[in-house]
Amino acid sequence: MAAIEIKKDIYWVGAIDWAVRDFHGYETPRGTTYNNFLIIDDDITLIDTVKEDFSDVTIKNIKSLIQPESIKNIVINHIENDHVTSIDRIMALTPNATIYITEKGKKGLSRFFDVSKWNIKTVKSGDTLKIGKRTLLFLETPMLHWPDSMVTYVKEDKLLFSQDAFGQHLASSARFDDEFITCESMYELDDSVIDYYANILMPFGQLIKAKIAEIQKLGIEIEMIAPDHGVIWRSYPNKILQMYLDMAKGVAKEGVVIIYDTMWHSTELMTTPIMHGIKDEGLDCKIIKLRATPMSVAIKEFWKYRGTLFGSPTINNVMFPTVAQILYHLNGLRPKNRIVGAFGSYGWGGGAVKDAYEILKKIGLEIFEPGLQINYKPSLDDEKRCYDFGKEFAKKVKEYHQQFGN
Ligand code: FEO
Repeated sequence: MAAIEIKKDIYWVGAIDWAVRDFHGYETPRGTTYNNFLIIDDDITLIDTVKEDFSDVTIKNIKSLIQPESIKNIVINHIENDHVTSIDRIMALTPNATIYITEKGKKGLSRFFDVSKWNIKTVKSGDTLKIGKRTLLFLETPMLHWPDSMVTYVKEDKLLFSQDAFGQHLASSARFDDEFITCESMYELDDSVIDYYANILMPFGQLIKAKIAEIQKLGIEIEMIAPDHGVIWRSYPNKILQMYLDMAKGVAKEGVVIIYDTMWHSTELMTTPIMHGIKDEGLDCKIIKLRATPMSVAIKEFWKYRGTLFGSPTINNVMFPTVAQILYHLNGLRPKNRIVGAFGSYGWGGGAVKDAYEILKKIGLEIFEPGLQINYKPSLDDEKRCYDFGKEFAKKVKEYHQQFGN
């Protein structure tokens, strides 16, 4: 896709990755984009680069506008591989350019590349760079989501280059939020934002709240937010800021998702009466089988709902591997403000439900106990127990949800 002007003399020069489905283990059914931007001012400035596989694409886009050797400044907001691994190709074209990066970014960059011949200036929060008519303001955002991370604000254009923040793994010919909504839907865009937040930014809610508050305190006006993935927010920048604030403070849907796996369908047979119990308490309920669903989608659905029930059969006295995998992954994502419980079938000794509670307690989530175990296949009586279990869980979800006022 060719370069696209996003503001006067500021161009998207990135690449669309329609095919990626495995993004460092995070499944991306909608693909992604690697966004970077060229500001044509007295000192031509490139904001970020792209994943190395797409070096030719961004170089072609840059060449459609200027000679690459005329690039004076390169801002590197974030050094993760999907953004920085084409920097050596770019530096070969413009060896006298100066890279602007945080101190931690510089240290990390030197682990990926021989930087000894590159001009590198480190910046910190509040530093500015005059590039002609425009002034760039740098703001460090450590651990959002790497130690090196920062964002760059163009005062004159009220434009925030936000690196990963506010991004979406979304391949589309639409470059802007409103274009995407016209072609697809607001739901699809919102869903992509939640997916990205849940799978990448979930551990950093408190930092996100603090950073947005800091930006608001600085009185920075934002008309456009240009992240390094997905569409650019030109019509709905306030909506995406509010979505992030809401997610960071614990907003979720008053409903339940059941995430399970099964060996011989017994745990699966438990899910339907549990769902009926939940529905009869007036809550929406979604059911996800892990081996039929990418884990990133299950994580997104977990994050959308206030309550989750995990279902696992017992195998060799422990949880089924896919259930263990998602709980282990959730432990690292450090979710908050969600209520959870567990159920499953067993043949003789049991163990999966106990195992699940151990890790759920370790994560620090609100716990609904006791869990429910069924021997072999659910009988009619067992189905009634499942129904009651779902109903009681839904009651607790409603109670717990009240404290969040949404
Ligand atoms: Fe899109 Fe943290 O990289």
